[in-house]
Amino acid sequence: MSDTSSAAPVRRVVCPGSYDPLTWGHLDVFRRAVALFDEVVVVVLVNESKRGLFSVPERLDMLAHELADVPHVRVTSFAGLLVDFCRAEQATAVVKGVRSGGDFGYEVQMAQMNDHLAGVQTVLLPTAPSMSFVSSSLVKEVARFGGDVSALVPSYVLDRLRTRLQESAERPDDQDGR
Ligand code: PNS
Repeated sequence: MSDTSSAAPVRRVVCPGSYDPLTWGHLDVFRRAVALFDEVVVVVLVNESKRGLFSVPERLDMLAHELADVPHVRVTSFAGLLVDFCRAEQATAVVKGVRSGGDFGYEVQMAQMNDHLAGVQTVLLPTAPSMSFVSSSLVKEVARFGGDVSALVPSYVLDRLRTRLQESAERPDDQDGR
């Protein structure tokens, strides 16, 4: 039975992450989330105990740059529990990419915790096979040692990555690069 008198609720989903930095793997997950739901909120979760290579404003800038032309996507940051952000956004679910069996175990654990805490559901999307080995951590490590990551991140991100690693090479006492 359908109710034609009221508009259907907006199906808003949240794509949380560190995005330090954004990769093509992340963008592939956003693209598929946009196709499945009405609105996608990409949120950089602030982790005070983990110092990133990029600051949160820098990560937001890279996300905003790459998503500027994608409709129904918003980019923001949040410090706190993901379930509290989801509640404030009235989100239908969390959407996350899963690259491998290793990812799957951890993602299921987090999904179950978020369900336990606030009944927040999680949709896990297998990443594109061509992206299954791509992670922000590996991109940073490979780039730090001069490896070629140009196929793994957008050119805007690549430029910033090279600049930041150059800066940290000039300041070797600053191991995290900022
Ligand atoms: O890109 P990442 O680092 O794999 O993302 C992990 C993230 C940020 C999604 C996760 O650590 C998270 O949700 N952090 C927010 C704090 C929180 O809610 N922790 C409990 C998760 S069950």
